[in-house]
Amino acid sequence: MTLDVPAVPSPAARDVWSTISRPPLFLTTKPEYDFRAGVPDAGLFPFEIWQDHLARQFRDLPRERLTYEDPRGHAGLRTQIARRLELARGVQVRPDAVLVTGGSQQALDIAAKVLLRPGDRVAVENPGYPPPRQVFTALGARPVGVPVDEEGIVVEAIPPGCRLVYVTPAHQFPLGMPMSARRRAELIAWAGRHDAVIVEDDYDSDFRFTDDPLEPLYVLDPGRVIHLGSFSKVLLPALRLGFLLAPPALRIAMEKAKYFTDLFSPSVEQAALARFMADGELTVHVRKAQAEYRARRKALIWLVRRDFADVLTLLPASAGLHVTATAPAGMWPLVRAARRAGVWLYSLGDFTEPRDSLHGLLLGYGAVPSDRVQTGLGRLRELM
Ligand SMILES: Cc1ncc(COP(=O)(O)O)c(C=O)c1O
Repeated sequence: MTLDVPAVPSPAARDVWSTISRPPLFLTTKPEYDFRAGVPDAGLFPFEIWQDHLARQFRDLPRERLTYEDPRGHAGLRTQIARRLELARGVQVRPDAVLVTGGSQQALDIAAKVLLRPGDRVAVENPGYPPPRQVFTALGARPVGVPVDEEGIVVEAIPPGCRLVYVTPAHQFPLGMPMSARRRAELIAWAGRHDAVIVEDDYDSDFRFTDDPLEPLYVLDPGRVIHLGSFSKVLLPALRLGFLLAPPALRIAMEKAKYFTDLFSPSVEQAALARFMADGELTVHVRKAQAEYRARRKALIWLVRRDFADVLTLLPASAGLHVTATAPAGMWPLVRAARRAGVWLYSLGDFTEPRDSLHGLLLGYGAVPSDRVQTGLGRLRELM
């Protein structure tokens, strides 16, 4: 007997998803030489201390705290984040202003959901970090790439009518320079005139190597700037913990958006992180990691200047986990060959719109130990 099953149309995703590029493949094995930008060294993470904190939280947290929790985040963690922002970044906020999120990616998604209507124009940096563009597109907004020069986003090139501007002022992604004080003031004034909101992605400013850091944009206008912070670079991406500071007028909507996104972030990890910070472990870790990254960065810059001067020109950068170098021609064939040879890195052209409109390489020093920088770069040189 054959069953007569009526033909049912397959479910269809909204058209927009066919226009959004796939996220990069996740590497299942560690590359021999890992020069990827933005990847911290998991080997520097204090696993034993962290395990103790986690175990202590599981043992000590009252059982009633292991159910549904405050969507805004663990109260102790919000206090610690506010304290650290004041000490490390000169931002004075009350814990009430902090919303704990699943990394800064979720913070961005929440901000976009709260603010954007279909058809809204949104300014993003070009070159820039691709995911914000995709998040805005998925919501039906229209991202517009705005050029970046040595001072940061070119404010006068932001088209009128943009409701939101996404920027990386502490360490422009991918070029690396901080936004100048003059440009910061211009951007804040622009946002005020156009009634726009600025999303400030502060993803990796914990590691600084040269100049004194400028205050975040949030300090200049807490009523108009949404500040996104992350524990991914300073600790581990696997923790999936970050936060946002919302202007008071947006706070309640942001809290609701967080609630309807995932109810709340994992509470045991939040409690462990609060303790880790309160005990000064984060400060100790940043100090150690910063010294290690400083040595790798120094070795990398020295070798690039010595061995690649005919091809690569390093751009100035004072923070973060990568440096960027420009090149006279497209780097994609080299990057592909390098990956096949076990050297993982990104081409600058992957972060421009249109693709490959700038040539160069991003050289990360987060995940490649100092004693492997030279051999890794040596292998890259052989492929040129
Ligand atoms: C500019 C920028 N923002 C945000 C992120 C993601 O941060 P999180 O892991 O906190 O979501 C990254 C990760 O590489 C990044 O480069």
